[in-house]
Amino acid sequence: MTCENLCGTVVCEEHAPKTPENALLSRRGLLGAFAGIAATIGLAGFGDSAMAASKTYVACKTTDLKVGGAKLATLPGTSIQVVITQPKKGTFKAFSPFCTHQRVMLSGIQGTNLVCQQHGATFNMTSGAATGGPTRTGLKSYTTTVSGTSVKVTV
Ligand code: FES
Repeated sequence: MTCENLCGTVVCEEHAPKTPENALLSRRGLLGAFAGIAATIGLAGFGDSAMAASKTYVACKTTDLKVGGAKLATLPGTSIQVVITQPKKGTFKAFSPFCTHQRVMLSGIQGTNLVCQQHGATFNMTSGAATGGPTRTGLKSYTTTVSGTSVKVTV
């Protein structure tokens, strides 16, 4: 696949959509390389624990979205984007905002589904499962917690 920004690169990291998966892939790639070096010099195991690290961010306030609604959020201090949903009052979910068909950003809500207008894929806003369209792969989901009025997402 060539870069959609037509920069001529087959796999272009500069123009690739910023997602938690991309960020983790990049981090894992670097950590994987470091783990190989660490193993070589007798520090095996260091890379494994570093790769398992995750971080929790305040993504939004509970009042930022209505019940049955969704909100795109960029996690503070990162370029990681997530879509937050509130399928039931007080229940918040977080998913990758990129369609699993061709990685186009989701664009709306239809009933209880998140929708990709590109080719009509739909995803359940509670589970992230694919519910229609050209993909059977659900959205990547993230652990979400509520603390006071803060919706926190762990990636
Ligand atoms: S890119 Fe979303 S349905 Fe094709």
